Amino acid sequence: MRERIGILTGGGDCPGLNAVIRAVVKSASKRGWDTVGFLGGYDGLLEPLRCRPLDYREMDALLFVGGTILGTSNKGRFAAKTGRGEAGNISSAILDEARDNFHKLGLRALVCVGGDGSLSIAQQLFEKGVPVVGVPKTIDNDLEATALTFGFDSAVACATDALDRLHTTAQSHERVMVLEVMGRYAGWIAVCAGISGGGDIILIPEIPFRYESVCAKVAEREREGKHFTLVIAAEGAREQGQDYVTQSEAEKDREVRLGGIGAVVAAEIQRRTGKETRVCVLGHLQRGGAPTSFDRLLCTRFGARAVQLIADEKYGYMVALHPPDIVPVKILEAIGRLRTVPPNGDIVQTARALGIAFGD
Ligand code: F6P
Repeated sequence: MRERIGILTGGGDCPGLNAVIRAVVKSASKRGWDTVGFLGGYDGLLEPLRCRPLDYREMDALLFVGGTILGTSNKGRFAAKTGRGEAGNISSAILDEARDNFHKLGLRALVCVGGDGSLSIAQQLFEKGVPVVGVPKTIDNDLEATALTFGFDSAVACATDALDRLHTTAQSHERVMVLEVMGRYAGWIAVCAGISGGGDIILIPEIPFRYESVCAKVAEREREGKHFTLVIAAEGAREQGQDYVTQSEAEKDREVRLGGIGAVVAAEIQRRTGKETRVCVLGHLQRGGAPTSFDRLLCTRFGARAVQLIADEKYGYMVALHPPDIVPVKILEAIGRLRTVPPNGDIVQTARALGIAFGD
């Protein structure tokens, strides 16, 4: 009987999930192990059990295919995050059922690919006796203990491309264009794409803004003869003293959905400056499509190293990027606290040095 390992993808999807699955299946098969994929995230471990064997021959074109062939979920019985990084506890009965099903399949270990919420479930399963190994995923890049999560670079590339496109139309019409990007309570996508895409004003959750300051930047550009302005707003950006703009209140078993700040900011800029202003919400385009070459490489390194951790029986660990190396870190070190943009860190200082405003 050949050894078998399991793999699942949890939480929101992102470019690169299939590249990780491919790397895990291929490097497991090189060791003579088979891989079983659980479908629909952690729910696949519950009755009715949903899993299937993953043949390495099926992996050929997966490097550049978006989404996840295993499916995923960020709600339901395994919703483990209530927002802002607090890990929620999954009921003991559900964890027991998942553990028992895992053991019935006779698997050696389980690779859990996910962000803060999914990795906190992995930790809870580990504490219940499931030998887990984590792989850090999220476009938000808000996970502790790794320099980068996979999916982030692809999301930044998408947002940068959007800014390039908005740049020319903003310039042609002498408008203010506001681009709203994802990222939950972290401004990584906004600040990185904002710099890469030549934004003029970047609004992030870590630096609450004032409209006086935002509009002063628009006016400054007008005085300089630049009659258009590019604003990039993280979905978690908020005015000083105000709460986050949300699309819906927290529903049972899922996180609150942020979104809408771009439209609010655009309307206020137009009202205060009289400049024609438009908003573009990038939304799930940031989560779809092929991963960048950087993410493909990172995913492949993460996947191969995760299989190595299983061979070393290093359970309860996650692979992490500590440049230039991929290293194992305890899952516990990565979860429960979001990694946000340091307001006085290098990246913000770089932006300020170029005259980019944060509206503070
Ligand atoms: O965590 C990834 C993410 O894309 C966030 O940036 C965003 O707030 C959220 O997921 C959107 O979730 P959903 O796909 O459920 O709308």
